[in-house]
Amino acid sequence: MKRVILVGNGAREHVIGETLKKSGAQVFTYGKARNPGLLELSEGYEVGDLKDFAHMQKFARAVQADFAFVGPDDPIADGAVDALLALEIHSVAPLQTVARLESSKSFTRDLVAKYGIPGNPKFKVFYEDNGVEDFLKELGGNYVVKADGLMGGKGVKVSGDHLKDIAEGVAYARECLTAAGRVVIEEKFIGQEFSLMSFCDGVHTVEMPAIQDHKRAFDGDLGSNTGGMGSYSDANHLLPFLSLGDIEEAREITHRVAKALFEETGVLFKGIMYGGFIATADGVRLIEYNARFGDPEVMNVLPILQTNFVDVCEAVIHGDLASLKVEFAAKATVCKYVVPNGYPENPVKGQKIELEGVPAGVRTYYSSVDKTPEGLVLSSSRAIAFVGIGDTLAEAEKLAASACDSVKGPVFYRKDVGTAELIQKRVDMMKSLRG
Ligand code: GLY
Repeated sequence: MKRVILVGNGAREHVIGETLKKSGAQVFTYGKARNPGLLELSEGYEVGDLKDFAHMQKFARAVQADFAFVGPDDPIADGAVDALLALEIHSVAPLQTVARLESSKSFTRDLVAKYGIPGNPKFKVFYEDNGVEDFLKELGGNYVVKADGLMGGKGVKVSGDHLKDIAEGVAYARECLTAAGRVVIEEKFIGQEFSLMSFCDGVHTVEMPAIQDHKRAFDGDLGSNTGGMGSYSDANHLLPFLSLGDIEEAREITHRVAKALFEETGVLFKGIMYGGFIATADGVRLIEYNARFGDPEVMNVLPILQTNFVDVCEAVIHGDLASLKVEFAAKATVCKYVVPNGYPENPVKGQKIELEGVPAGVRTYYSSVDKTPEGLVLSSSRAIAFVGIGDTLAEAEKLAASACDSVKGPVFYRKDVGTAELIQKRVDMMKSLRG
């Protein structure tokens, strides 16, 4: 039986832990808080700072881990994988050098450009504000400003959305320069976004079903950006607005980026390459890469993974992905997050919630909730994710929605994620773009 140290304590890590356990592993969790689901399935649980590598190493040594799975972006970017490798514990997550794929927007744009890989927008990296205004004008006022570092999903601002004119773009670029000394400014794409995550052993990439996440807090894509309110994936592993050709384009970009990463750094990327793509009138373009599983996207894929997950993890670590058939069930999945009222700006905290009658078959994954003697209590972020699985999106959506309705307490969720009405809007938009 493999002993796996799992770093992180969100819903993402809950489903990773569940899938490892189902695949025959013993899970030992190192997290900054006690996730009720992980507590239940773990053989050992250590609460510690995710940046405290000495503490993490002590735990890993004590449990004699065969390998590690590092879930969240921050410890990966800070070098948790390097720290574990110093103990000869390999991870399903990249070393710091290649984790720059996520932690540095300029690194990735420059890499894609240098190796002639398609997908980049028009972009420039600035180290001072000289020239910023001219470039924003050259882009016709349709621009994206990206702080060059991990900003908890809040570093990217888009014209016509967060920033209303050139002056606001210049002001935000200056803020980023002060914070990080570097800012990336790029052309804004119009189209439909999708996530395509791939297992990567440094050489081979194996893609998972395509998924669409929903960033905005409220129905109709209104309200502030969040960590992701819910996501869906269709039974054919496509999305209703994508063609097989779109997936092939995205797959090819990821494959070439993995190869370029090695050529550029001499380090193999072993872990999850999570591409944020957008289907446009002119084909697929790259928005960004993350160097980990997406949350909520991971909850659309791991529950339908048919291949033993421990085998997949070991193939990633040992460079054996080419000899493993990685298969997913032909099922539609809809994931919906229940979040505290007031989320994301002013979430209620410390209030009790109760789950009464989650429908059979719906998967429940805990995120920011504490299990106390009085019951489940909200922290200040996304609380619980529910995943409906069905033969059709309609069936999966109904299951996820009825699980969300079963939560009693000061919470809300997006009712429109995965519904036929919202998906039709996406399809219509793509049709009008592509003619
Ligand atoms: N789905 C958004 C993220 O994981 O960053």
